[in-house]
Amino acid sequence: MTNRERIGKLEAERDLTDSGFLQLLQNLTPEDRELLAARAGAVRERVYGNAVYVRGLIEFSNICRNDCYYCGIRKSNAKVDRYRLTGQEIMDCVREGYGLGFRTFVLQGGEDVWFTKERMASVIRRIKEEFPDCAVTLSLGERTREEYECWRRAGADRYLLRHETADEEHYRSLHPPGMNLPRRRECLYVLRETGYQTGAGFMVGSPGQTWDNLISDLRFLQQLRPHMIGIGPFLAHRDTPFAGEPDGSYELTLTLLSILRLMFPGVLLPATTALGTIAPDGRERGLLAGANVLMPNLSPVRVRDKYELYDNKLSTGAESAQCMEELRRRVEAVGFRIVTDRGDSRTDLPEGPKAYKT
Ligand code: 5AD
Repeated sequence: MTNRERIGKLEAERDLTDSGFLQLLQNLTPEDRELLAARAGAVRERVYGNAVYVRGLIEFSNICRNDCYYCGIRKSNAKVDRYRLTGQEIMDCVREGYGLGFRTFVLQGGEDVWFTKERMASVIRRIKEEFPDCAVTLSLGERTREEYECWRRAGADRYLLRHETADEEHYRSLHPPGMNLPRRRECLYVLRETGYQTGAGFMVGSPGQTWDNLISDLRFLQQLRPHMIGIGPFLAHRDTPFAGEPDGSYELTLTLLSILRLMFPGVLLPATTALGTIAPDGRERGLLAGANVLMPNLSPVRVRDKYELYDNKLSTGAESAQCMEELRRRVEAVGFRIVTDRGDSRTDLPEGPKAYKT
């Protein structure tokens, strides 16, 4: 089978065999990549038209109990200037974002246990009371079922928790003892059961990642069937154990975005900050490869450079919520349109290209 044929099969059946994926990934020509992006773009178009959803990202705490080897805000990094926004400051971000047109707010933080079940629930309730037309997405790591349930009752709609890698051994090589993949998976299944629109995802090109690891990521996602999938290239941070490791590949990230779009037509797929950081046209290329979500930074400007997950993480220009005009112009230049409704996932529609024909 040629890669051209594999891409056709992937679009029609939303799946390949392990060796099919392996062949595809290992032997991609520039023409194959273009074809993949074109087919993924067509599928995205059928499901979401030319709409691009925007989410206001509020990085509310960079305090973290975890010590992931790749992450700039890991507990052992003593050089980080730690901060935690107050409820009032979070509300100020939300109000500003609402004025800018955002109807989804992503509360993302390190695993900061100061935000207890009750404190977090109170933040969620305040947002949903003042802005009932908005969706609240949480991204604050591994917590208990009770906490996830409580926050869902408080009004949270979505939860992002990347699985990072679906291979146990690789997971152990990226995380210190004490963190493990079964617990990560368990959290994701609990989140789904609790009624969240759930997001998983992985880094592309993290140290030690093999082709087989990437195929495991695709298989895991097929089992979980998340509403959202966040992927971006691994980018080294100077004050982590992975300082000096090579960055993940821009091209491979784009290819995987296209593959994910073909496998999961209705999934919400962001062109992430890491993709925008690795290349100046990363966001646009991500959209053209099949992504349909952007998450501009809405954090207070004074804390933005303190949430540095990797070196040179972008938070200005089109990455900044305050620069929506620049973003809109750039998105429109590649044929898309920014939409400011909640932008819920369409994964609950019957899957399969035919179901979306209009
Ligand atoms: N490079 C790329 N992505 C990273 N993340 C954390 N550290 C890095 C890094 N060095 C990603 C992880 C995490 C998300 C919030 O950011 O996948 O889930």
